[in-house]
Amino acid sequence: MTEYTPTFYAIEWTAAGLRLLDQRRLPGEEVYLEFGDAVAVAVAIRDMVVRGAPAIGITAAYGVVLSAQQHGSHADWRSRVDQDIRLLAAARPTAVNLVWALERMRARLARVTAEPVRELLDEAEQIHGEDVSANRRMGVHGANLIGKGSSVLTYCNAGSLATGGYGTALGVIRTAWGAGKLEKVFACETRPWLQGARLTAWELLRDDIPVTLITDNSAAFLMQGKQVQWVITGADRVAANGDVINKIGTYQLAVACRYHGVKMMVAAPLSTLDMATPCGQQVTIEERPETEVLGLAGQAVAAAGAVAWNPAFDITPAALVDYLVTEEGVIAAPDREKLAAFTAALNPGS
Ligand code: MRU
Repeated sequence: MTEYTPTFYAIEWTAAGLRLLDQRRLPGEEVYLEFGDAVAVAVAIRDMVVRGAPAIGITAAYGVVLSAQQHGSHADWRSRVDQDIRLLAAARPTAVNLVWALERMRARLARVTAEPVRELLDEAEQIHGEDVSANRRMGVHGANLIGKGSSVLTYCNAGSLATGGYGTALGVIRTAWGAGKLEKVFACETRPWLQGARLTAWELLRDDIPVTLITDNSAAFLMQGKQVQWVITGADRVAANGDVINKIGTYQLAVACRYHGVKMMVAAPLSTLDMATPCGQQVTIEERPETEVLGLAGQAVAAAGAVAWNPAFDITPAALVDYLVTEEGVIAAPDREKLAAFTAALNPGS
C-alpha cells in the first residue's frame, strides 16, 4: 500500500478534549470546534458538524470518553455515562455505525478497572484507528475492480470527512487515482446539504484529484453519454439481505446504472453491516427539517407556502448493487446467502 499523508484531520482527540472540523462551514471556512461533554457532542452529530456513518460512530465513542471524564467523580458515574450513551445513540437514527461504536464503548465500560477515562480513550482510539486501516484495505479491493481509463461518479461525501480518515468510496477513488487508473472523477452536488459540491470537491482538491461536479439530475444523462463506467458510493447501513441504505438519491443512481450498464459499487466497512436487520425496509430513515429543502445556504428559495418532504436516506435493493466492497474482501452481486456466508467465514464458531 502506498504512503498517504492526510491533509486534514476532521476528528481529533487533543489535550483539550475532542476537536471537530465544522463541516457545515466548508468549503468557505475551516473552523475547528472543541467539545468537553457528551451532550454537546450529541448536538454536534444531530446538527451535522460531523456527518457520515463511520465518522459519527467515532465521534460518539470519543463522546463517551468525555462523559466518563465529566462524571468520573460521582458515585453514580456509570449510570450517568449510560444516560449519555443513550443520548448519543439517538442523535441520528439511520447509520448503524453510531450504535455499533457505542456498543463497543459500552462493552469496554463494563470491563473498565482502575482508570476508566484512559481505558475508554484507548477503545475510542482503537475504533478510530481500525476505521482508517479498514478504509485503506477497502481502497485496494475496490480499485482492483476498476479498469484503467475508467471514469467514476460518486455521491454525497464518503471520504476522510465522513470516516476516521481516507474514506470508503473516496478511499477507492483515491487508491484508483493513485494507481493511474482513473480518467475522470465526477461528483453529484447532493442536495439538500450539498455534501458533494461542498465536501467531496473540497477534500479531493486538497489531494490534487480533479473533480467535475454535476447537478444531481444530470446523472442519467452522464451515463447515457457513456461518460462513466462506475458509480461508487458509501453506505449508512447494509441490511442482512444486502439492501443498502445511503444518502437520498443513491437509489435513483442505482436504477439508472442498471439501465445504462454502469457498474454500481458500494464501499462499506464491516461496522456498517447490520446482520440483525433482515432487509432495508426495516431501517428507520431519518427525516430532516423541510427548511433544508425550501432553502439553500440559509436563504429561502422555494415559493412561500410550499411544503417539503426531506428524507435523508433511501434504500437501494441489493439486486441493484454489483459489488459490495469491505475491508475483508468483495462480494459480487450481494444477497442474503452470500452475506451470511461471508460474515460466518469471518467469525468461525460464532
Ligand atoms: O447525511 P450524511 O452526510 O451523514 O450522509 C452521509 C452518507 O450518506 C454517506 O454516504 C455514508 O454515511 C457513508 S460515509 C463513509
